[in-house]
Amino acid sequence: MAMASNHDCISDGHNTNGTRYGAAAIRAFAGGRHGSFGAAFLDPVIAESLKTLVSGKRVLDVGCGVGDWCCLAAQYGAKSVDGFDIQPEMLELAKQATSHLDMVHIKVGDAGDMPYDDDSFDVAISLFVTCNLSPEVYAKHFKELQRVLVPGGKAIYLSPSDWCHTELYTRIEADPSTVEDEIAEILETVPRYPTTEQITEAFSHANNILVACFAADQNGKLFRVRSINQLAYSQHIWRKTEVLLYPNFFYSDQSDIENLQSAGFHIDQKENFFTEERRSLFNRKNPNIMLSKKYITNPASWVYYISKPC
Ligand SMILES: C[S@@+](CC[C@H](N)C(=O)[O-])C[C@H]1O[C@@H](n2cnc3c(N)ncnc32)[C@H](O)[C@@H]1O
Repeated sequence: MAMASNHDCISDGHNTNGTRYGAAAIRAFAGGRHGSFGAAFLDPVIAESLKTLVSGKRVLDVGCGVGDWCCLAAQYGAKSVDGFDIQPEMLELAKQATSHLDMVHIKVGDAGDMPYDDDSFDVAISLFVTCNLSPEVYAKHFKELQRVLVPGGKAIYLSPSDWCHTELYTRIEADPSTVEDEIAEILETVPRYPTTEQITEAFSHANNILVACFAADQNGKLFRVRSINQLAYSQHIWRKTEVLLYPNFFYSDQSDIENLQSAGFHIDQKENFFTEERRSLFNRKNPNIMLSKKYITNPASWVYYISKPC
């Protein structure tokens, strides 16, 4: 799996619109997206939901990245698919991936000011986007999602859960306490008030970490987050995954729910796609990248199935 190089990862991190990926980070994201267990758990769940929702419908993909979901929605019979993203460089790959699909339209746009008329879509998806958004854009995103959906329209919303912010996911063969020691040693080498590039460099060989979240304390010292009580709303955080190290903003499960509801969405269903059954199957199929038992029962992300009331 492609890893971002130390020198061209995230070009400018916590900015006002959202996380910006540099060229190597985009390549790494395109190659590995949410890592092998994202591919094993998330993708089948979303694919199944898309299949049931999009046939014959006008579909919007918010923060479409390299366009994988746009392709799938088209494959599942969507009448039209519109994907937008803040980063033209991501969209170049999305355009290449969808160039053979006439019903797919890709353009640049901001999740806080979606470039579409009211009531334009029957179905929308917003997957792993809001963790990239500044607080101003985060709050607007939910209202915008509501605005562009028709009454009765449905959406799938997903972002990292509280658990994903606080737990260390390791490869199964790695002893978690040894990985914790390794992290503690690395943290000692990171300068105060670090840049994303410095953090990336420091963790570039920490291959036993599948998911971990970091933040800086009041003195600028980087620490591994262990409780959401250590974080403030929209605080700058850095997430390390198997594929990338990237800057994000912290939003709790509670904050997601409050914003969905205050935008007027009805939460039809909330699903944990990291079920025990799926994890066990994943571990059987991926003997080299197995998830520790600790993660059998905890959600890395919730999938929200939401709708705009008629
Ligand atoms: C982790 S990627 C997820 C991409 C895609 N949804 C997927 O699941 O594969 C997050 C995406 O959000 C995009 N993004 C960040 N800020 C944005 C904004 N303000 N408006 C639209 N897209 C944004 C990024 O450029 C990136 O492509």
